Amino acid sequence: MTQILDGKAIAQDVRAEVGIKTQALRESRGIQPGLAVLLVGENPASQVYVRSKAKACEELGFYSLVLEKPATITEAEVIEQVRTWNADPRIHGILVQLPLPAHIDEQRVLLTVHPGKDVDGFHPENIGRLVAGLPCYAPCTPAGVMEILKRSHIETKGKHAVVVGRSNIVGKPMANLLYQKNPYANAIVTICHTAAPDLTRYTREADILVAAVGVPEAIHGRDLKEGVVVIDVGINRIDDPTAPKGTRLVGDVHFESASAKASAITPVPGGVGPMTIAMLMLNTYRSAAGEVY
Ligand code: GUN
Repeated sequence: MTQILDGKAIAQDVRAEVGIKTQALRESRGIQPGLAVLLVGENPASQVYVRSKAKACEELGFYSLVLEKPATITEAEVIEQVRTWNADPRIHGILVQLPLPAHIDEQRVLLTVHPGKDVDGFHPENIGRLVAGLPCYAPCTPAGVMEILKRSHIETKGKHAVVVGRSNIVGKPMANLLYQKNPYANAIVTICHTAAPDLTRYTREADILVAAVGVPEAIHGRDLKEGVVVIDVGINRIDDPTAPKGTRLVGDVHFESASAKASAITPVPGGVGPMTIAMLMLNTYRSAAGEVY
């Protein structure tokens, strides 16, 4: 039997735990976690994400600030806004929704976020801390994958984890989390990317496969080994004339063929996706509670 890894349920558990700890933090120390989000431009996917983040804050009793700015905003104005939030004691987490318009240098903006408020884990200080195995904010999506593995009691120690994709948001931090020397990681990690002459040579060797490719159903069950644990980070909308809306969501893995081989697999939707916001809430709570550094 293939275990379906229910990210939606795990995310609800994480959020419920954060809610309980948030109430305790308010009662014991009078602190309300606060998250500020900057959304630039009118990217529809970003608008959906930002609304979900604000809703999650409301549910947990966080102080929440969402600032929407037109795509014509200058880089200097974005940086000035981030600096204002760096200095605001009500704000424990700052999130600049990516992507930013092309005229704004993302790295310069991310460098401006105070590392102690960098709940996205994108600042080079947090990236360095992650690599070094120091307390840090880890990027929310790969941190969510680690939480799924841990709470589903999937053994990672000594297993061959193959990460497909090398983005700063998912692939790179994912690989770095998986090899860390702790009881919930300790995997042997391969990271694959577009220069691999034959990707299947690597995917076939995976005990744990993490797909963060950004291409719908790019990885097929025939290229996986029996018993593999499949973590699908992709969310792609594809045309499907048989679906009521004419489209449907699929991952980066071909679910039907992969689930026939896998011992466990995350579905899309309802797998990794819901974990991202849950981990963002957890990171914001940790910042407010002074748990990280
Ligand atoms: N765009 C896509 N994913 C993310 C994320 O996790 N954080 C931010 N800030 N932007 C994103």
